[in-house]
Amino acid sequence: MQTHRKIFFDLIQNYFTNMLDKHSIPVQGLRHINASHVNFVFECKINHKDIILKANFYGRSMLFAYEKFLDDGALGFSARLREYGEDDDKFEMLLEKQALNLLAENGVRTPPVKGFIYPNILLLEKLYGNTLDKEPLNELLSNRLTSILVLIHSIPPPLGCRKREIEIRDGVIVIKDPNFERILLFDRVAKNVTTAISSYTNRQCFLHGDFKGNNIFFDGEKISILDPKPCVGIPHTDLGKFGTRLILTGRRKDLPTIKHGLELMFRQYSQTFGFDARETEEVSVAMGLMELNHLLEQRARANIDILGHEILELYEIKPLVLYLSELVLRRGEMMTIEKLCSFMER
Ligand SMILES: Nc1ncnc2c1ncn2[C@@H]1O[C@H](COP(=O)(O)OP(=O)(O)O)[C@@H](O)[C@H]1O
Ligand SMILES: [Mg+2]
Repeated sequence: MQTHRKIFFDLIQNYFTNMLDKHSIPVQGLRHINASHVNFVFECKINHKDIILKANFYGRSMLFAYEKFLDDGALGFSARLREYGEDDDKFEMLLEKQALNLLAENGVRTPPVKGFIYPNILLLEKLYGNTLDKEPLNELLSNRLTSILVLIHSIPPPLGCRKREIEIRDGVIVIKDPNFERILLFDRVAKNVTTAISSYTNRQCFLHGDFKGNNIFFDGEKISILDPKPCVGIPHTDLGKFGTRLILTGRRKDLPTIKHGLELMFRQYSQTFGFDARETEEVSVAMGLMELNHLLEQRARANIDILGHEILELYEIKPLVLYLSELVLRRGEMMTIEKLCSFMER
C-alpha cells in the first residue's frame, strides 16, 4: 500500500518536473507538502525563492486521481498525466489564479501569484506561519477575519462567476454547488428553517467558497487567504462553514474563546450588512451543517486517508453531524453559536 502511494506521488512529482522543464523553469528541492489535502501542493525553490506549486486534475480531489492511478496502473496513469489538458476543460487552477488576483486587487492579502503553467499548475509565493484551523479565535483574529469577510463579500462578482444556486421548495433544499460533483439535497426541512434561509436568497454575494481555518494563514501579524473557490451564493455559506467547523473540530479547551470570537464576528458582520445577528448565526449553523452532512452522508471511500487528517477528523464526528442535522434542519431547533458551543461542552 505505502509503495503504491510512493509511486503515485513520484509520478505527480515527475509531472511537475517535466512541466517546469518544458518551460525552462529551474527548480530545486521539489517535495510534496504534507499539509495539502485535496489538491497536489508541492514546495520548491525557483531562482532561490521559496515557491509553492499547486495542481489539480479533472476538477476533482487527489483521491480521485489516486483511484485512477490504481485502476490504470503506473504506466497508464503517467500517460494520462502527459496528455492531461488536451481534452479536459476543468481548469480549476486557472479559476483559482483569477480569484487570488481578484481578492488581492480588492485589498485581501493572498499569496502572490508567481506564474501559471498551462493547463493546471499554479505557482505561488510561499507564506510563513500557520493555518488557523487549530488556533483559538481571539478578539484580534475575530475582528480581522470579519473585516476580510466583509471585503470579500463586497466584491462585485466578475462576469461569468459560478453560482451556488439554492432552491427551496416544500421542505426541500437543493443546492447546486460548483465545488461538489453531486447536488446537495436536504428533504423534510422544518418550515422555520426554510423560511429563515429563504429570507437571504436575495442577499447573494461573491463568496470565498471554501472559507475555513486551514485556508487561512496567519504569520503572527498578517492574515492571508488561500484556496478560494469563487462563486456567488448566500453569505451564510462562508460564515457557516467557518463557524460550524471551528466549533465541531476545534480544540475543546478553546471552546470558550471560539464562542466569544465567533459571536463577536457574527455581531460585527451582521451590523455591517444590516442583518439580524441571531438569525445570521442560526442560518449559518444550518448551512454549515448542511454542507458537512453532504460531505459525510456517503460511506468513506477506500483510501480516503490520502486526503489528510481533516477529512478523517470529520468522519470521526459523522454521528454527531448527522444528529445535529436532524435536530436543526428537520426538527427546526435552530442553533445559535452559543447553543452549538454549549451542546459541544456537554
Ligand atoms: N502559498 C503558500 N504558502 C505556504 N503554505 C501553503 C501555501 N499554499 C498552500 N499552503 C499549504 O498547503 C495547504 C493546502 O493548500 P491549499 O491551497 O489549501 O490546497 P487544497 O486545495 O489542497 O486545500 C494549506 O493548508 C497550507 O498549509
Ligand atoms: Mg485548502
